[in-house]
Amino acid sequence: MRLVGVLLAVLAGEAIAHADSVVLAPTQDTTIYSEDGTLSDGQGQHLFAGLTSNSAERRALIQFDIAAAVPAGSTITSVTLTLRLDKTQTTSVAVALYPATAAWGEGASLAAGEEGGGGPAQTGDATWTYRLYATAMWAAAGGDASATASATTTVGTALVDTTWSSAAMTADVQGWLDTPGGNHGWLVRAPGAAASDVKRFASRNNADSTVRPRLSITFTPAVPTGACCAADGSCTVVISPGTTCSATYEGDNTTCTPNVCPQPPGACCSNDATAACNEVPQATCTSMGGTFHGVGSTCAMTACPVVLQPFVDPLPILPVAQSTTLVEKQFQTKVASALPATTLWGFDDGTGPRSPGPTIEARTGAPVEITWQNQLPATHALAVDPCLAPDNVPRSIIHLHGGHVPHAADGYPEDAVPPGGQVVDDYPDNQPAATLWYHDHAMGITRLNVQMGLAGFYLIRDAGEDALGLPSGADEIALFISDHTFGPDGQIEYPATWQPEVLGDKILVNGVVWPYLDVPRGKVRFRILDGSGSRMYKLALSNAASFYQIGTDGGLLAAPVQTDEIDLMPGQRADIVIDFAIFAPGTQIILKNVGDPVPDVMKFVVTATAGHTAPLPQALRTITAMDPATAKVTRDLHLMQRTDSCTGNAFTIDNRAWSDITETPMLGDTEIWTFHNDTGTAHPMHLHLVQFQVVDHPELGWLDTVTVPAHQAVSVIAKFTDYAGKFPYHCHMLPHEDNAMMRQFEVLPLPSVDETAADAGVEPVHHGGGCCDAGGHPAGSLVLVVVVGIALRRRRMS
Ligand code: C2O
Ligand code: CU
Repeated sequence: MRLVGVLLAVLAGEAIAHADSVVLAPTQDTTIYSEDGTLSDGQGQHLFAGLTSNSAERRALIQFDIAAAVPAGSTITSVTLTLRLDKTQTTSVAVALYPATAAWGEGASLAAGEEGGGGPAQTGDATWTYRLYATAMWAAAGGDASATASATTTVGTALVDTTWSSAAMTADVQGWLDTPGGNHGWLVRAPGAAASDVKRFASRNNADSTVRPRLSITFTPAVPTGACCAADGSCTVVISPGTTCSATYEGDNTTCTPNVCPQPPGACCSNDATAACNEVPQATCTSMGGTFHGVGSTCAMTACPVVLQPFVDPLPILPVAQSTTLVEKQFQTKVASALPATTLWGFDDGTGPRSPGPTIEARTGAPVEITWQNQLPATHALAVDPCLAPDNVPRSIIHLHGGHVPHAADGYPEDAVPPGGQVVDDYPDNQPAATLWYHDHAMGITRLNVQMGLAGFYLIRDAGEDALGLPSGADEIALFISDHTFGPDGQIEYPATWQPEVLGDKILVNGVVWPYLDVPRGKVRFRILDGSGSRMYKLALSNAASFYQIGTDGGLLAAPVQTDEIDLMPGQRADIVIDFAIFAPGTQIILKNVGDPVPDVMKFVVTATAGHTAPLPQALRTITAMDPATAKVTRDLHLMQRTDSCTGNAFTIDNRAWSDITETPMLGDTEIWTFHNDTGTAHPMHLHLVQFQVVDHPELGWLDTVTVPAHQAVSVIAKFTDYAGKFPYHCHMLPHEDNAMMRQFEVLPLPSVDETAADAGVEPVHHGGGCCDAGGHPAGSLVLVVVVGIALRRRRMS
């Protein structure tokens, strides 16, 4: 577009400013006489046109050398022939110009007297029969000329200049300029003359030079332009000879459309899984279907992304764990059929390692003991930032996210064990049905361990949920959403030094890039987890269809909520039901991440198979609103960002460290915590041990991770029950968690029974009520399992 603009400026501005004119004298002229083919008047002072008293005709021939006077390529804009009438009869006569179509000559002939009778033709003279006496004759006597006059002027009787001018004459002269070999001048006739209608004009040989014939021409000279080529291959049109070109002038009449400039190469990325790079000109890159990274870019400095086609591979359905011993192992797997196998860390339940790990199925009231074994390699697969960890040993400790568990089973970050070690955790499962998940929580390297794959689902079910008749079995699918970047070798790419936010360029669901899932024509329940390190999702269906949310982090909502969009930040879960029965078989629906530069998550393909068509229950469970008046303490916590001498910057809670413990709820207390976000990004704030409500918003359900939008405050209310001890609370954007945005609260045990009795203000000890109190839960009796006496233990070996 820019080049076109320059070109137009050149034509509009420069060319018009160069308009020019010229006045030419004839190079030859003569008169021919009809009564005798041997008469001419080459050297005479006059030209005749018309009929004599005895009807003998006179015609004149006149020719100008256009090409000698007007630059080639010019555009002729007007032409005027001027002849001086120097003898006349008493009548006006129309005299016309006809373009001559054959070459003719002017020799040495010279008529006597008034020249009305002509003189003997000499060699090379034009006569009535000869065009070149006496070697070449006209095809038609009287001169070969176009049948159509180019201009006609009625010549009066005053002895003054007479002019001829017309568009046809302009065209004649343009043709003679462009094709000089076709220039034979005009034959001057008086086609309608009667006897004695004759006019005499001054010829080029007239003694008075001021009355000789002349042809005035105005023209626009061709302004040669040429391409000016910059080193980057960009092209601008400049006026010849290119003095305004500071780069290379390619010569007159070279163009920018098409661009004649030699095109310098740049890095060209193939848009496929090979992520190949070639240094070629942009046009070559485009024709190869590649992406050009700019002139002068090199492959050495260009990281070509691996480009994969979405929806090629099927969604894996995560299997249920077959063992309570889960072994962390490094293994290879294909995350996309177009990529080589990727090295991941996953969990082996005896059926082979996988990531996400096998799904642990638990039931409310039925404790589960899991042995977590670390059999990872001796050194980390990703670069460990020394600012945040002492060495590159892949220590690991598993946390049950959303679980109401004792400190000993909570996965204390400082208790991470190195390869060869193991941890045994007893999970009491004394909480209602919910979608929990397990993931690594090692101090300073959680983001790396989770990126490598150390995470999986932990589902707690209960009788109340069973009784609802929700879609189950094949109609209930857990979706673990994460984002990664892969190299062309299939390996995970992750920054070597800490970054505040790390976003992958591929979205994986259950460990496969942009999968598809065939769904029946019925309701399907999806338990969706944002298991990404930093990425948030605004999930919606590509056909804008609505669906129902039935649950959150801590389990079921009070009732299904119809919606068409779900927001999830890292760590958060949404339990939804999509009804595919309303779509025709073959319908394809993409689960989108609205507004994200990586907009696709996965695709659903509706099959003809009948599915779950029972209506959703109207009510799911009772959620009792927590009364803010019951809170003993209200705490204000500020989410902050600060500079850091090692990592550059860091995120904090109240600018305090992990080891500063200032939040100490008493066992059984209800507290309100208000997170004030003093930063410009949202943080998903997560508390261990409890499920909480957003103050005054019980309809949002039980949560363990709440989004605190930038520069806003969110208050949550929680009851700290059952387990005294230290528990982390933190931002679940894993780079933030790893770099100072994680602290701990300590639930203080109650005083002894005697002391309790002495202090009437303290509630008695109770077990199992937890966050989601028995009173509000349909399976309340199961929640009230007394955990005292269960040998909760955590062993540590290395
Ligand atoms: Cu899922 Cu302490 O985190
Ligand atoms: Cu954060």
